[in-house]
Amino acid sequence: MKLVVIGGSGNLSLAESIAGRLGTRVCPFEANRFPDGELHVEVPATVRGGDVYLVQPTGPPVDGHLMELLLLADACRRAGAGRLTAVVPYLGYARQDRRVNKGEAVGARVVADLLGVGAFERIVAVDLHNVSLEGFFGIPLEHLSAVPLLASALEGLVTDKSVLVAPDLGAVKLAERYAELLHRPITIVHKTRLSGEEVRVYGIVGEVAGRTPVIVDDMVSTAGTIEAAAAALSAAGCLREITVVASHALLVGPALRRLSTLPLKRLLVTDSLPVAEHGSLPLQVVSLAPMLAETLARLNGGESMS
Ligand code: R5P
Repeated sequence: MKLVVIGGSGNLSLAESIAGRLGTRVCPFEANRFPDGELHVEVPATVRGGDVYLVQPTGPPVDGHLMELLLLADACRRAGAGRLTAVVPYLGYARQDRRVNKGEAVGARVVADLLGVGAFERIVAVDLHNVSLEGFFGIPLEHLSAVPLLASALEGLVTDKSVLVAPDLGAVKLAERYAELLHRPITIVHKTRLSGEEVRVYGIVGEVAGRTPVIVDDMVSTAGTIEAAAAALSAAGCLREITVVASHALLVGPALRRLSTLPLKRLLVTDSLPVAEHGSLPLQVVSLAPMLAETLARLNGGESMS
């Protein structure tokens, strides 16, 4: 089937990069808004019969990007697309994967239903907040990981003094994967979230005195988690030379201010979301385009994903 790549506004440059590696170009579509704010999209007739990949991370504005993805899927299906795959390098709402308080919604399940029921045949995602989210989807999910790419970017930068830090209990498995690849020990920060922007750290499990911390997380959003972990690590005597590694750089709200006050040596992230240069921030971006292009080529060719 003819491979067609469509790039939503969530990260057009990543979609272009993926398409370029596949020897094609992103298929243009029209998007405009009605005066009341409703989004209207129109895809070209060239999607007919195609194996269509809609590349759209649902980062901020999360609802807008999600709606654009759903409208594009509907437009492609009505235009006769042969097969539809959502390529969602960052999935918004994934953190709402359980109810902490009784009155809450499970946002991740709602989004999985929106994408899975009728909209797409398959989803490609990268480093979902929780691996068990796969069970929320009733359609096949190709769950890729940027961890090997990020770990390989860290090789040569970690030393005998480096220690991998899980900034909360949820990041322990992730830290273990980095530890296995980089052959370094791990330390765990005991964190509790107070609100969307605020967290509290209760303590650290592991030895950090005199070591250089490499904090690993799935995402940096407001950087409250990183800020709190950094303060606890400093208090525990680690060296003032922090590396932060995350698959998804949301960097919203107070994130830049918080990061700018830290003794940050490196912020290593992927381009799952558009990442702009931020002045003095020591940002290093690893592109997901090669891995995603390879994945799309294999899916299109019906090849093994292993
Ligand atoms: C939490 O469970 C996640 O893994 C991240 O630690 C968290 O979402 C990061 O958010 P923030 O940067 O706002 O602390």
